[in-house]
Amino acid sequence: MKITVEVGDIIQFKADALVVNLFEGVTQPGGGTGAVDKALAGVITEELAQGKTFKGKVGETLVLPTYGKLPARYVVVVGLGKQADCKGLQLRRASAAALRACKKLRVKTVATLLHGAGIGQVDSQVASQLLTEGALLGVYQFTLRKTGKTQPEEGTDALKNPIETVVIVEQDAAKKEKIARGVAVGTAIAEATNQARDFVFDSANYVTPAFLAEAAKKFAKGDVTCKVYEKADIEKMGMGSFLSVSKGGGQDPKLIHLTYKPKGTPKKKVTIVGKGITFDSGGLSLKPASAMELMKDDMTGAAVVICTMKAIAELGDLDIQVDAIAPSCENMPSGSANKPGDIVTAMNGKTIEINNTDAEGRLILADALVYAQKEIKPDELIDLATLTGACIVALGKEASGIMGTDDGLIDGIRKAGENAGERYWPLPLFEEFKEMLKSEVADIINAGSKGQAGSSAGGIFLNEFVEEGQKWVHLDIAGPSYTDRDVPEVPKGATGVGVRTLLYYLYGLNAV
Ligand code: BES
Ligand code: ZN
Ligand code: ZN
Repeated sequence: MKITVEVGDIIQFKADALVVNLFEGVTQPGGGTGAVDKALAGVITEELAQGKTFKGKVGETLVLPTYGKLPARYVVVVGLGKQADCKGLQLRRASAAALRACKKLRVKTVATLLHGAGIGQVDSQVASQLLTEGALLGVYQFTLRKTGKTQPEEGTDALKNPIETVVIVEQDAAKKEKIARGVAVGTAIAEATNQARDFVFDSANYVTPAFLAEAAKKFAKGDVTCKVYEKADIEKMGMGSFLSVSKGGGQDPKLIHLTYKPKGTPKKKVTIVGKGITFDSGGLSLKPASAMELMKDDMTGAAVVICTMKAIAELGDLDIQVDAIAPSCENMPSGSANKPGDIVTAMNGKTIEINNTDAEGRLILADALVYAQKEIKPDELIDLATLTGACIVALGKEASGIMGTDDGLIDGIRKAGENAGERYWPLPLFEEFKEMLKSEVADIINAGSKGQAGSSAGGIFLNEFVEEGQKWVHLDIAGPSYTDRDVPEVPKGATGVGVRTLLYYLYGLNAV
């Protein structure tokens, strides 16, 4: 689905469906929506007067056939919510809902008004970026492994998207360039998110460490380069903790490192690290079947950092050096797997007693964090990981846990998340939690006391591999990485959570 911009009048536009909008509480539509209402003999005004089917709440849609009164076959009116709340979340969501309604209508071409432009802080570039993000995120569906015969039923929006083009119709020619820029930014952000969703949705027999490494190499274009470290390199670098996890699986480990360097001297260096366990069985500390079912999603962090670099390669125009690091392997039980009680040595020389082989994410991240600090010396270090089930217990699916060593960085990521429509909630790294990780036989144990502050224990463990003074933040995305709740811009399943937050953060994008 491609999004374009044209100058003109929406009611004359030749598309299969027109999308117009309405703020909650408006009784008499104006502008483009008013013109459509007039052409359709006041049917929108009448619906509003009845107040039953459509009130203009965020994401509400009203589908109207035009019976030949307009060149388009259908009009979709989408609610933008209250005008006072007109910002990122609402506009992204409204656009997603509108395009999902169009998808259900099985149309090929859509013309749309630019929702919310000129209201509050939303200028036409931000409005078109949000419209684009919402549209592409909303119609997303994982179709890679479905054959024609097993497509979902007609009349649902779960069918393959038939929409080929969405044209933003703008009356003012002077705004065209800004709108086109918003479309370009929104497209890169949404396509990167959807790519991450594809990687996470896809199964672990396809998405192996080698598969992720090949994808990363393919995304390295323009000012982005990619280096993949093989098993022998990982051994040479002394990453005993990462290697120990990979030993049980049938796949060789890969350490994926993508770098974006700006043309001039970088303003700062930001490194993003993502957990890339392509399947987490728990290892010999085996998970029960029900808890294992979805463990193909344990590489969300890796997919997110790799796909963030895909967007950066496409967008460029960033004066920050960005490095993405993804340690990737399987966590499987076998004769060569980690055994509870094994002691391994990380790249910084610290010894770890593995009391639970299912706390493997922190084992691979420990080495990746040490590598990042040694090789890059970043100003800011951010890791993303589906690290703990405890984080889902604490925050559910509505927020990721956030913890780290620098309040400024934590606030920056949370603000970016708010703009991006992704929520992060702070969890503590109390000094006292260190007690939980005391080992009798090694420097540190990998799994803390059962049933106690599990997400913080994961954070405290990682903190042991972060040098004094390093600005670092850890995002536990275990909850939001895969959802069962269908939200217009976040369809059920793999969400690609984090891609948008990172891109909003790095590019300093604002939508609230
Ligand atoms: N990948 C899991 C965490 C997870 C659980 C992600 C559910 C998404 C959904 C992680 O490797 C894990 O198993 N963590 C353990 C840690 C424990 C052994 C200290 C957990 O959460 O039980
Ligand atoms: Zn695990
Ligand atoms: Zn895991």
